[in-house]
Amino acid sequence: NVLILDFGSQYTQLIARRVRELNIYSEIKPYNNPPKDLSNYQAVILSGSPYSVRAEDAPHPDLSEIKGKKPLLGICYGAQYLAQFNGGNVAPSATREYGRANLSYVRENETFLEGLGEGSQVWMSHSDTIKELPQGANRLASTHDVEFAAFHLEGEQTYGIQFHPEVYHTTDGKKLLENFLVKIAGLKQDWTPDAFIETTVAELKEKIGDDKVILGLSGGVDSSVAAMLLHKAIGKHLHCIFVNNGLLRKNEFESVLDQYQHMGLNVKGVDASARFLDALKGESEPEKKRKIIGRVFIEVFDDEAHKVENAKWLAQGTIYPDRIESVSASGGPSAVIKSHHNVGGLPDYMQLKIVEPLHLLFKDEVRRVGKNLGMDPAILGRHPFPGPGLGIRILGDITAEKVSILQEVDAIFIDGLKKWGLYDKVWQAGAMLLPVNSVGVMGDERTYEKCVTLRAVESTDGMTADWVNLPYEFLQKTSNDIINKVKGVNRVVYDISSKPPATIEWE
Ligand code: XMP
Repeated sequence: NVLILDFGSQYTQLIARRVRELNIYSEIKPYNNPPKDLSNYQAVILSGSPYSVRAEDAPHPDLSEIKGKKPLLGICYGAQYLAQFNGGNVAPSATREYGRANLSYVRENETFLEGLGEGSQVWMSHSDTIKELPQGANRLASTHDVEFAAFHLEGEQTYGIQFHPEVYHTTDGKKLLENFLVKIAGLKQDWTPDAFIETTVAELKEKIGDDKVILGLSGGVDSSVAAMLLHKAIGKHLHCIFVNNGLLRKNEFESVLDQYQHMGLNVKGVDASARFLDALKGESEPEKKRKIIGRVFIEVFDDEAHKVENAKWLAQGTIYPDRIESVSASGGPSAVIKSHHNVGGLPDYMQLKIVEPLHLLFKDEVRRVGKNLGMDPAILGRHPFPGPGLGIRILGDITAEKVSILQEVDAIFIDGLKKWGLYDKVWQAGAMLLPVNSVGVMGDERTYEKCVTLRAVESTDGMTADWVNLPYEFLQKTSNDIINKVKGVNRVVYDISSKPPATIEWE
């Protein structure tokens, strides 16, 4: 197990992912709230930070229980911190130390640098630089502008690097992490999807025993994989509830329910479309629509959950990025933990204990676990879909007629992406129904009908996104199909806005 102490770098999660790609488990903890018991950690990595180590309010944690006692790697700020507080000197750098650089010196016969050579590309991102190393430190590598790109403190397993091994542009970054973690710290590479499944299923069995568990399925990857893990552990004691809020994609409720049943899940489909549409009638304010959908969902889910007698647990598909305590940009000890948006929590009187089988995993790891559980690639590769569904893609108020128009449009677009082999190249796609009528002409008739916009984005986490350059031929065919087949729509536009400043959804 590797401990990553976070000093607030934008790359900290990437460090954890790179380590896990080496099949070594890693955990991120904020520098100002480290674990009390360090005995489970065989190595420690210090992240980068937006701070300068010379600033008074910068993170300066006590490392006396770590440094010299466990293999320790400081990255960027982490390296400068190790240098500054062991007798070296860090100062603002005179030359630009951002972006691409190449190693110009690599010390020979160093296990730490095995496989890296002169010319190896690294990625720098710092405005301070190490001017002098501490006594007893050896320079291991340099670039043209950075003399102490890597160093080692003699007599201990302490290393510092001023570049970022976790980013893709550091070509041999993964090799370097492997050298440190496997060859120097002696960690085993046994954190695999199969090992995760085996231990998680055993833990779930032990924790839950013969209790009943309730889980809300959304059709998405996370809740589906969580359900399969629990199913493997406790079988029919898992009671899944899949709610149709009437705002799902065309035929999604029936087909997904069918898939779940084929997977052997004990699932109850609840069609509450009318209840949602009724509650939404006349409301056009986006945040109010969200709140209504959230509230009705909880009411419906609660009603169904009550029918499961003696249920003791509520399972959720929360994943690791939802739970990482983040060090805020101001460096303060903020603990921002997002709640899972699809199951917004249940009334207290239900007294259910929470179980979250995926709380250790990143999204790509969830997919790998799902694959090893033998799940259908179509479920695992599904685009993200917002909890409020088409409700926030119909701008303005929602009616049954608008839902059905948008479902038809969306189905033509999504089926088209699949047919053209574009679906897996896009992170998320969908259509929005705009509150705009425009003039058209069909045959000899003037029309005055609705306008839809298509949106397809590439992203890794939805926090930032860019529109996808879909082939014109595809857009042409899709637009034709929509206007010819969907009654009530006479105009199709394509959204070419990035996030930021736009968002992915229009509401
Ligand atoms: P935005 O529109 O904020 O969307 O750029 C980012 C990602 O979040 C999804 N999204 C939601 N998911 N409930 C959800 O469960 C919501 O209210 C919600 N709003 C946006 C959106 O689909 C995209 O993947």
